[in-house]
Amino acid sequence: MLLFPLLSTALLFSTSITSALALALPAPRGLSAENLNPHMAEVRATRLEKPIISPPFPDNRVQEKDLQKELKPKRWVSMKWHSGYLPRMCLQHAEINHVDPSKFEVRYVYFEDCVAPWPVCRHVNAKESWRTILQTLGKVPVGMRQYASHIVILAEPHPEHWGAYVMGTVITVFPGSFTLGVLMHEFSHILDLVVLQPYVADLKEYPPGTSFSATRQWAEAIGNDTAVPTDYARTNVVEDFADVGRWAISDLVHRGGVGKYTRGWVGFKHQMYVYERLLCNIIFPKKEVCTIRAYDTSDPVAIGELQDGDAKPNGTLHGTMLNTFVVPPEANERIHMCYPGSGA
Ligand SMILES: *[C@@H]1O[C@H](CO)[C@@H](O)[C@H](O)[C@H]1NC(C)=O
Ligand SMILES: *[C@@H]1O[C@H](CO)[C@@H](O)[C@H](O)[C@H]1NC(C)=O
Repeated sequence: MLLFPLLSTALLFSTSITSALALALPAPRGLSAENLNPHMAEVRATRLEKPIISPPFPDNRVQEKDLQKELKPKRWVSMKWHSGYLPRMCLQHAEINHVDPSKFEVRYVYFEDCVAPWPVCRHVNAKESWRTILQTLGKVPVGMRQYASHIVILAEPHPEHWGAYVMGTVITVFPGSFTLGVLMHEFSHILDLVVLQPYVADLKEYPPGTSFSATRQWAEAIGNDTAVPTDYARTNVVEDFADVGRWAISDLVHRGGVGKYTRGWVGFKHQMYVYERLLCNIIFPKKEVCTIRAYDTSDPVAIGELQDGDAKPNGTLHGTMLNTFVVPPEANERIHMCYPGSGA
């Protein structure tokens, strides 16, 4: 069931499908891992000494072309938000990246599979058009998409060539990296930290804020394998989990699975099977509608001069039958993962 809101000003509708091609580049300065719990800090500083699968996966653009065809597009409608305000989370990421907050356009986007909208903040000079952004976001399976509270799209590349990063449940993307492949990686971070929390808690041996990928269960899956899926996965177990997720989605939707891309896939199959076993039903819920929404309770922030009659916008999610979870404010500082942009 879908409730379209009363549509007032500018509307964007999705129509034809263009495939988002990716170049390189992207992202922020001045973030640190200081707030991580000591276990996570150690885990993230530890490289994975495993080879890459052989033969390796083809270029990311091959995956992107296929995912763009294979993931079901969802219809959407978006409402332009009041120009004098930014969602607080978007302001935070404007500041982190030293971007003038008045340069963001905000839209609240309703997809046909969820009664609650997504706030999307796009820099006016962003390389990706609204249409590309929303068409691509609409192909992210709802069981993943529902765990992002905000999407932020920037116009300037990150000095260290990040493609995207996630903090808490906010995904920030740099130019050229708004691709399904990059999004599968970033959403996998959120699933790792938020959705798999019960598995981490069950083990009763890790401090709060520990991701599933930092537990001995994920270590066991890696231990059973001879390789990791990509070079970037060797960064640490957290990035490994997210790149496993990126290719596990292809395994689930590509005809014949990832074996069609390389016979090297068997080198990381235990990791891929763990990801699929724990998350497949969550990512692709039977009814294909959202069951929960990541949600931020903070008030929108006024920026610049307000126009006469600009009412303070409603930052609240509405929609009955929907469970929401509120992202603890600390999470937005504690959790931070970047992803390189080269080859998006
Ligand atoms: C790892 O291999 C062992 C021995 O074959 C098996 O019992 C276990 O379930 C495997 N674990 C994972 C996570 O793949
Ligand atoms: C704002 O959100 C509240 C809380 O759900 C809702 O009752 C109200 O109708 C919303 N107002 C507007 C103008 O959308």
